[in-house]
Amino acid sequence: MEVIIQPSERHATELAAQHIARLLRDKPSAVLGLATGRSQMGVYEELVRMHREEGLDFSQVTTFNLDEYIGLGPEHPGSFHHYMQEHLFGGVNVDPEHVHVPNGMVQEVDAHCVAYEAAIAAAGGIDLQLLGIGTDGHIGFNEPSSSLSSRTRIKTLAAETLRDNADAFAADEVPRHVITMGIGTIMDTRECLLLALGEHKAQAVAAAVEGPITASIPASALQMHPAARVVLDEAAASLLTRASYYKSVYEGKPDWQR
Ligand code: GLP
Repeated sequence: MEVIIQPSERHATELAAQHIARLLRDKPSAVLGLATGRSQMGVYEELVRMHREEGLDFSQVTTFNLDEYIGLGPEHPGSFHHYMQEHLFGGVNVDPEHVHVPNGMVQEVDAHCVAYEAAIAAAGGIDLQLLGIGTDGHIGFNEPSSSLSSRTRIKTLAAETLRDNADAFAADEVPRHVITMGIGTIMDTRECLLLALGEHKAQAVAAAVEGPITASIPASALQMHPAARVVLDEAAASLLTRASYYKSVYEGKPDWQR
């Protein structure tokens, strides 16, 4: 696990966007795993800017989103599909045929989840998975107690997550059920980049990076991922006990390792 601490939210966000852009330049047909949430907004804004101003090409890219609320279609402003359209898909030249978001309106949820996993496999697997982290340590919508080898399936949200995500909904309308890639699905990706910003994430980040691997903190499973990067601003890194070591590793990286 590589922990990269940046001086500000903007630096962390730009570093994450640069990392994705580098992959797309090296492998134009890359398969991206995408996340939603406030933390990712700046990353997508920067990717859209790079597309417009620098010609960053998404025409051969395939995408798979981590999760979606059950009962919300792409036109619902609170749906993750809507979020993706607003923040990324609508601003770049990705082929809509290559875009995959779990379908929150599907009747046969189990069959849909199996098909979602099959589609990821048929695309050749995910090259780079973008992740955020919940204040309770969730990744995707894998809440504490999720099996560390789980696959795409239906989950019920924890009270903390319902509170955190309430902004996008009217008071009594926050959906409680979701479809999410599993932790096993995330662990199968070739590379993970988790972006966490702000002091309210510091506790979950410290537990995920420096605590024991446990289903109680789903993001801690990333300690077992062969290529996981955790990109943080100073506030999100504020409870890490080895912050100065992570900084010295990153600053002292030899060129061959960059
Ligand atoms: C939701 C998403 C997660 C995301 C989390 C954090 O729960 N399902 O994938 O990591 O929000 O979001 P934010 O960046 O808004 O804090």
